[in-house]
Amino acid sequence: MPFCVGLTGGIGCGKSTATDIFRALGAAVVDTDELSHELTRSGGAAIAAIRNAFGMEYIAADGSLDRARMRKLVFAEPEARHKLEAILHPLIRAASYARIAAAQQPYVLVVVPLLFETGAYRELVARVVVVDCDEILQIARTVRRSGLTDAEVRAIMATQVPREKRLAAADDVLHNDGDVEALRRQVEALHAKYLALAAKPPEATAVPTSDDF
Ligand SMILES: Nc1ncnc2c1ncn2[C@@H]1O[C@H](COP(=O)(O)OP(=O)(O)OP(=O)(O)O)[C@@H](O)[C@H]1O
Ligand SMILES: [Mg+2]
Repeated sequence: MPFCVGLTGGIGCGKSTATDIFRALGAAVVDTDELSHELTRSGGAAIAAIRNAFGMEYIAADGSLDRARMRKLVFAEPEARHKLEAILHPLIRAASYARIAAAQQPYVLVVVPLLFETGAYRELVARVVVVDCDEILQIARTVRRSGLTDAEVRAIMATQVPREKRLAAADDVLHNDGDVEALRRQVEALHAKYLALAAKPPEATAVPTSDDF
């Protein structure tokens, strides 16, 4: 497997913006949210299983997942959420691993919005970069972009790992409190660091000697 870096961060902190910059610099990007969308669009690999589990009414006229309808259902019923996740997560995981293994770039950025919340993909990535910004800014940017209210954004944030915990668990942090240019400069520095790390052979693991027994 190529050298993998996990990218995560709270809602609206700038994950997609930072990812676009990494991609433009030449990193391979495997985005679990993007894969989830691909699997649930018309003809996607998850559609048949979703139709069987939830019924035809959750499939839109064009054959894709009816996202609005499913969002309402899983919001109201945790059981339904678990059922949907049981279908999607293994498919996303398999697709991620396949894309990572096929990547030709020097390293792979694996974008996992809920990396710390779920623990998924932690074993795959050599390190984790967190995109972080001040919470007031995070809320303002998310409200502007999504049309959610301030309270709705705060409710989503409350379901995510607290900012301090995320920062404490990070190997690298992108501070996204400035403009996009300031973010770009930080991404460029990290990209150079990841290229260097990817070029290094993995640390030799200690071989046990007879003294260890
Ligand atoms: N440094 C910045 N200056 C101004 N606006 C920014 C900056 N970084 C990101 N934004 C804007 O803030 C919004 C959220 O950023 P982005 O979509 O990159 O975050 P995200 O973490 O991917 O969000 P989500 O969790 O919803 O996927 C977007 O509208 C984006 O254009
Ligand atoms: Mg995003």
